[in-house]
Amino acid sequence: SLSRSFQRAAPLFSRYAPAASFSTAQFKVCINGGAGGIGQPLTMLMAMNESVKEVSVQDVSMAAVPPAGVAADLGHLEFPSKVVGYATDPKVPATEQLEACLTGCNLVLIPAGMPRKPGMTRDDLFNINADIAKGVVEACAKFCPEAVVGIIVNPVNSIVPAMAELYKKKGLDPLKIVGVTSLDIVRANKFVAEITGKSPADIEVPVIGGHAGVTIMPVFSQDPISATISADKIPALDKRTQDGGTEVVEAKAGKGSATLSMAYSGARFGNKVLKGMAGTPTDECAYVASTVTDLPYFSSKVTFGKTGVEKIHPVGALNSYEEGRLKEAQRSTRAWNTSQGSERNSGA
Ligand code: NAI
Repeated sequence: SLSRSFQRAAPLFSRYAPAASFSTAQFKVCINGGAGGIGQPLTMLMAMNESVKEVSVQDVSMAAVPPAGVAADLGHLEFPSKVVGYATDPKVPATEQLEACLTGCNLVLIPAGMPRKPGMTRDDLFNINADIAKGVVEACAKFCPEAVVGIIVNPVNSIVPAMAELYKKKGLDPLKIVGVTSLDIVRANKFVAEITGKSPADIEVPVIGGHAGVTIMPVFSQDPISATISADKIPALDKRTQDGGTEVVEAKAGKGSATLSMAYSGARFGNKVLKGMAGTPTDECAYVASTVTDLPYFSSKVTFGKTGVEKIHPVGALNSYEEGRLKEAQRSTRAWNTSQGSERNSGA
């Protein structure tokens, strides 16, 4: 039966309420960049998962808040998890510093890296963030090669292929590297709820393709509630889902991108992965190495099971508007998969 502390948190997790299999804390989770804008609330939500026994909060030593401080703070929540902070030197290879942090981890979530700043090109963002991700992913390959590694740092469309290729080269399973696109699903669900007046808890819009601009492709025809929205309203809803990140960036007026909704979405993803590991296969759309289309990396519905990615589902039935959008999304995703072209944007 569920413990009282989980019942207290249950409303928070209603969309992915764990089954009875969550009654014992068994998993270790690491958040890299855990002292950042996304990292802190994401660490909090993962520390509140009843199936988590330990959370590592890793960040660089000059982070705005010391990781040990985030850990001390979250260590007082009335949940079973123990929270431990790790401050690292960015000039020293992660593989030399992250052994204790990563050893035994089942799930690693990586929001470590820069959001774009004025004067920075998109390629600067890719270069800096791919380097940060590479350090962490190399350490994962060494200390927790069986863990699912959720890539949140942008540009997801390019960082995931680079990190999955790195795993392949080391003889590891490239499907351990998973791009987290759950925020696009969360946004689509909420916008559909607003338009239809239905509860977001009853809406689950698959979002396929990738995680930037037109590569973000909500499939409104596949959810029974969003399928009732009249066709003339779909293009604007589609566009709003694609531009959700920009809505937040503009409202924050230069002070950051989506952090709280991303933390929620990262926890939605993480909790589903852990639920699968605990024995209840659970679905979420995610950006992975794929044979669903002719693109090497693509987001579609994925079933997470005991060891992570268990099945990657086909795109499913599309209406004619969506057929057109899929072509557009594929064209653009291909550009992201195969080049570091100027089309790229940070897509937060
Ligand atoms: P932030 O700047 O608030 O936090 C990033 C954290 O990473 C900082 O605490 C920084 O010290 C840390 N960091 C830098 N180098 C590190 C290293 N080598 N090891 C460990 N930590 C390191 O940024 P925010 O807002 O949390 O965003 C993080 C990333 O997530 C950005 O790249 C952003 O574009 C991306 N993002 C992705 C979304 C998605 O849907 N996948 C949505 C929103 C943001």
